[in-house]
Amino acid sequence: MIKTMPTIIPNNEWVKIKKERYHPDSDVWNLEIGAELKKDFSNYDETRFGPDPIDDVIDRLGIFDADFTEDINNAEKYRGGMETVIKPDDIRPVHKMHRREMFDISPLGTVCEAISNFISLDYDKIKYIPTKLIHLQERNQMLAMHRDLCPGSGVFWESMRDGLRELAWEPERMGRFVIFLKDWVPGQVWVLGNRNFTHWRAGECFKFDWMHIPHATVNLSHQTRYSVFLTGIMTEQSYDFYNRGNKDSRYVLNEDQTSFIRD
Ligand SMILES: [Fe+2]
Repeated sequence: MIKTMPTIIPNNEWVKIKKERYHPDSDVWNLEIGAELKKDFSNYDETRFGPDPIDDVIDRLGIFDADFTEDINNAEKYRGGMETVIKPDDIRPVHKMHRREMFDISPLGTVCEAISNFISLDYDKIKYIPTKLIHLQERNQMLAMHRDLCPGSGVFWESMRDGLRELAWEPERMGRFVIFLKDWVPGQVWVLGNRNFTHWRAGECFKFDWMHIPHATVNLSHQTRYSVFLTGIMTEQSYDFYNRGNKDSRYVLNEDQTSFIRD
């Protein structure tokens, strides 16, 4: 959970309720897709008009100070090589609501792999979710407000139901980090709860609360937005990075360029 997130009830009470309701043997795991169920996982109090302070809707963990040119070129080269969520010529029936919800996914380059090594999530047990990717969002592309617990559409739901049922007890152990590879430009918006977030920097890293914070994104600029998503089980090293990180933290490549060190 975000360090200073406004909650509906105290988090320890929320965890107790979730542990009972989302017991691995509970029927709740067999329910059909439902927005209410997704909302049920969230302890973010979204009743306020806002805007919330940025640190209440996302954790800022500092900047990876590196040259991402090669990683960006690599992402362009393998654009869509991993997966393209919805293509303009998709033959599947696509609801008109989703027509602009398109983005390409590419693999990490060497600098991004070094970030992944430094944050050190455990990717081995994660099923169904691409654990390491670069998300390319073009002008006009968007993702409407949602939470990442999406029963029926893959991702976290299936991973917890089929692969990691123990995470039903403590889903917060599944961590998701986001790193932008280019400075923000006007027209790019990331919506987090009741806050519209802009002005991120190249290399800036965030722990993104997939479970609690409803979110959306749109690119109304003329430049591609490159963002790295790392999703895995939090390890001791991941918690250390998270707990020590703040907006002023700086990280530089280590000598053999396979990981980062604190500056
Ligand atoms: Fe999401």
